[in-house]
Amino acid sequence: MSSEMTRRSALKALGLATASAVAGGAAVAAGRHPAGQLPQVTGQTPVVEELFPFEGVHQAGIITDPPEAVLLVALEVISKTPDSLTRLMQTLTMRSRELMRGQPGPATVEDENFPPRNTGEMGYDSLKDGRLSIMIGLGASLFTKDGKDRFGLASRKPIALKPMPRDLAGDRLNPAMLDGDILLQISSDHPLQNLHAFRDILRNTKGLVSPVWVQPGFQRYLKAPSGEANARGLLGFKDGTSNLNTRDDALMTSLVWTGSEEPGWAQGGTYVAVRIIREQLERWDRLNLARQEASIGRRKTTGATLDNTKETTLPNYAADPDGDIVPLNSHIRKSNPRLGEESERRRMLRRGFLYMNGIDKSGLLDAGFLFQGFCRNLEEQFEFVKRNYMVNRNFPKKGTGAQDLDEYIACIGGGYFFVPAGVQQEDRFLADALLSG
Ligand code: HEM
Repeated sequence: MSSEMTRRSALKALGLATASAVAGGAAVAAGRHPAGQLPQVTGQTPVVEELFPFEGVHQAGIITDPPEAVLLVALEVISKTPDSLTRLMQTLTMRSRELMRGQPGPATVEDENFPPRNTGEMGYDSLKDGRLSIMIGLGASLFTKDGKDRFGLASRKPIALKPMPRDLAGDRLNPAMLDGDILLQISSDHPLQNLHAFRDILRNTKGLVSPVWVQPGFQRYLKAPSGEANARGLLGFKDGTSNLNTRDDALMTSLVWTGSEEPGWAQGGTYVAVRIIREQLERWDRLNLARQEASIGRRKTTGATLDNTKETTLPNYAADPDGDIVPLNSHIRKSNPRLGEESERRRMLRRGFLYMNGIDKSGLLDAGFLFQGFCRNLEEQFEFVKRNYMVNRNFPKKGTGAQDLDEYIACIGGGYFFVPAGVQQEDRFLADALLSG
């Protein structure tokens, strides 16, 4: 039996093989799986038989189910003219569209005097699975760099786009892993599929861009939709319990998708704070259970907040004003103090992956969390929470200190990006309204 057959049979046995290619808005809904449907197959890569549509109101890779693997890539635009930037966005759109449609590259009819256009590692047949998405974001440096308006676009910059601040307490930023003119979030069910897409894009944009940093990552072992977090990060805690419900369109509109506050071309998009957060796992693993639970504010096994027994029951901070039960410096209390409207409007959509880069010079695990916080306004949401709640030593009370978790984690790279709305028609390209307006 071929390995392909084995994989498909395994998926069928698990009830996973769905109708293959899907198109239109319905596919976005199809990109979300009910609890318990994703497999935990030993020795198998659980590639799901589904494609995410490229065309859509919003780009794929934000509210579509996170697949198994991710490649975060930051690119520098090296071409200098507005025309070449347009050509770049057209090429990125064209290649992303084709790759997401499951076309790994031209199949046959190659001229043997030229390098093959399809590098070949994904084969030559159309793919019907893998849930590849290529989400494209724009960094502040695409608009202005060293005080210069690079492509005549400075006046059209999204209102809250800026480089990621260098002064966020606790960060240990590696300049080699920071920022970028363009972000690609390439995600699919297989790391090879991500690499293939990246390689294809690099070949097709030669002379226009050059990669600045790349960080691969992978999905958590157990998964469930938001609101039922089986997914556990490297600290061993369920992560995603209190995330935004991506099916709640009103919530997405108020907290994630940009609106009339932005220039016309930038409406219907979103911002993302990408944070590569290293975790000191050896130190964390030496903490006793009570310390670990106090640091997060939830029970390790059940995921319930420390004042509850059920994962989904909301904590009651008003009944615990001094943090005797859920510590004032616990992660959940610092990141969402539940102050009513004042903190509700600070919430963001979190979409995380894990990473592991081997070991560092001291033999310690170089691993952690690839945090992506999607917000309608980065300054009012992600950055506000970080500065005013999490690392504010006098929040929620004088003398509380920064969140305890910061003893064990540090952000080492990433950046702020604006993610334009999706491309809705075949003859359009990403951010065309920015470039043609
Ligand atoms: C290594 C870094 C991080 C780890 C290990 C981590 C882990 C967790 C865990 C275990 C939870 C509880 C389960 C849940 O409700 O989802 C949680 C909740 C949360 N985290 Fe993080 N997190 C990290 C970084 C961040 C960052 C950078 C932010 C944003 C500033 C953030 C914002 C939140 C928010 C808003 C919640 C929900 C709190 C609530 O509504 O009760 N986290 N995180």
